[in-house]
Amino acid sequence: MAVTDFHPLSPETLECPYPFYEAMHAEAPVHFAPGLPMALVSTYDLIQEVVHNPAVYSSAIPTGPADLVRAEEDLDPELRELRREALKMPATLLSADPPWHGRYRSIVNKAFAARRVNGMEGYVREIVTSVIDDFIDEGKVEMVSQFADRLPLAVIADQIGVPRAELTEFKKRSDLAIGGIDTKVPPELELAKARAGIDLQRYLIARAEERRREPKDDMLTVLATSMLETDEGPRPLTDGEILSILQQFQVAGKETTAHAIGMTMQLLVQHPDQMARLKADPSLIPNLIEEGLRMETPVRALFRVTTRDTELGGVALPQGTVLMLVFAAANRDEKEFACPAQFDVGRENAKSQLAFSAGPHYCVGSALARLELRVAFEELLRRLDNVRLDPDHDPNPPHTASYILRGLTELHLLFDKAS
Ligand code: HEM
Repeated sequence: MAVTDFHPLSPETLECPYPFYEAMHAEAPVHFAPGLPMALVSTYDLIQEVVHNPAVYSSAIPTGPADLVRAEEDLDPELRELRREALKMPATLLSADPPWHGRYRSIVNKAFAARRVNGMEGYVREIVTSVIDDFIDEGKVEMVSQFADRLPLAVIADQIGVPRAELTEFKKRSDLAIGGIDTKVPPELELAKARAGIDLQRYLIARAEERRREPKDDMLTVLATSMLETDEGPRPLTDGEILSILQQFQVAGKETTAHAIGMTMQLLVQHPDQMARLKADPSLIPNLIEEGLRMETPVRALFRVTTRDTELGGVALPQGTVLMLVFAAANRDEKEFACPAQFDVGRENAKSQLAFSAGPHYCVGSALARLELRVAFEELLRRLDNVRLDPDHDPNPPHTASYILRGLTELHLLFDKAS
């Protein structure tokens, strides 16, 4: 099929995007799809070129749907009031540019310092063990809700000061307030979403206040107590800045990691030979994580906007052109990855995958995500044998409808308990 035969955001293309990615690679690595106000960038080299040049390709662009930026007058009066009441959150990381991006990033880098992340392995393993304990005697599991969703939530909640006892309530609020970053919210949900957002803000500001009074060894303490460099000299982060960063930890850290767990597990049950290879040699698990992220990339795309007239891959881009960087397509670029559709846990350059992007916005949580994924698969592969699809359910469960995130909505498995 020709590249113009695909609609990039149609449900069919989103469900199985790979033929579209191949067509873009062959015909139009920088592709202005008819009807879309942006160009899609799909090859490994061109995405690298863009992400390493923030002066020309700015991140200051909303990733949400049009209704996020819709005119105030269109809003229900109660919703307008709630939006006014909510604390304004400045662009801090994902959508910030130099010099502010680097200033925020140096604080957040401290929160994700290797020492802290490495020190988390013991308790990540404890969480994984207790989540597996909850289903191991059943001989079956719905992998997404019973495992994949639970691990990153517990880890990030711990790091941002949510006590375990409040986890369920926190999940409900956080899912409602910030879930579905690019899906249209039905009007009846908008008010509930805005209220949950304000409750969540108050809750998190109270936790940050506690950390200022009583510092702990967690990420929230780093945010609550660090000084931000500004042109007027150093100052603490404002509550709005802390909330903006915490919101990104939740959006960027929770669903992405959960999606990676679900899709990597699906790849393994679809490729029993690769599963057997890992069982025989668990030292391949870190490479499995890279290959899983390459094959099934949870953040399929993010955006940049050109700050001036420029040219990319021979295509002229006027100032203000929005680019959708399709990381999932770059990860299937055959110029970078031989036989890209082949799932090979021993692939030598799997770690070159672009699932975490590259350049100054390179995922600050990548070490934590890699740790969670490695420990998850170490324990799953050690404790479960003969993992297979449950024949009572759809063998090809659908993916989330999002055009930014890709993940399974469910994955029903049967297994034997390893002796
Ligand atoms: C498998 C899991 C994950 C994937 C696939 C992923 C993917 C990404 C990608 C593609 C970006 C780059 C954005 C860009 O170039 O514009 C990013 C940035 C970011 N990620 Fe992750 N991420 C994951 C896990 C996490 C975790 C666990 C956290 C934190 C708890 C996190 C927090 C962030 C933040 C704060 C940024 C913004 C960094 C910046 O703009 O400087 N991510 N992530």
